[in-house]
Amino acid sequence: MTKIPRIVVLTGAGISSESGIKTFRDSGGLWEEHAIEDVATPEGWKRNPALVLEFYNQRRKQLLESSPNAAHKALVKLAKHFPTQIITQNVDDLHERAGSENVLHLHGELLKVRSEVFEELVYPTSGWELKLGDLCERGTQLRPHIVWFGEQVPMIEPAIEMVKQADTVIVIGTSLQVYPAAGLLNHAPYGSRKFLVDPSEDLQPDMFRLTHIQQTAGKAMPKLVDELIREFEL
Ligand code: OAD
Repeated sequence: MTKIPRIVVLTGAGISSESGIKTFRDSGGLWEEHAIEDVATPEGWKRNPALVLEFYNQRRKQLLESSPNAAHKALVKLAKHFPTQIITQNVDDLHERAGSENVLHLHGELLKVRSEVFEELVYPTSGWELKLGDLCERGTQLRPHIVWFGEQVPMIEPAIEMVKQADTVIVIGTSLQVYPAAGLLNHAPYGSRKFLVDPSEDLQPDMFRLTHIQQTAGKAMPKLVDELIREFEL
């Protein structure tokens, strides 16, 4: 009998684009309108925390008005047939809301906040707005639970271990420009199958021997999942 592959899925902003959430580096993306150093670094937070809070409040507000799309839902179906682990760079909760269970967030979560001093004090948000003066139980200011540029990525080690175990890797909607996330593919076992689902022509799928499905996630993922299920006669 054919061995059922273990599948690791690495997602980026592109998978949530068809849910109405902006990507970062596409034309019209978030980093065109906002300076990374102002809103996504510890230095920006020190300089102008109100600006940073406003940026993430807007992201949170938009997220609460969005819903999972066909690609998020296809991954739920995938996990019913194959052992599946999702590693996401996204800070939205659309994988979870679609019904996915094994989701590792590399860059934090928009619907959580934490103390700016005591990192282990993490709380779910209530609503979309976090304000200056909102304090943790030990009296320090709360900040978004987001991994900013220049900060450690604590979940990278477990993510590497997951990729090392993969028979098939599916990369969806990421420009693979931000490390260490982009380096995860280097840990995929030799001989593993790798797919890239992304409409962009600017990516370099050959670098990681990725089979490039050059379509949007919402269009490609339901088809890819059905093909994998058929292939393994599940
Ligand atoms: P990017 O904005 O860099 O890349 C988004 C990718 O999604 C591009 O390759 C697009 O071609 C692709 N894309 C757009 N629409 C799509 C669709 N409908 N279906 C599939 N793909 C689509 O976003 P990321 O690679 O996720 O980190 O960015 C990585 C990190 O950089 C983010 O987690 C964030 C950002 O700065 C932090 O903020 C810490």
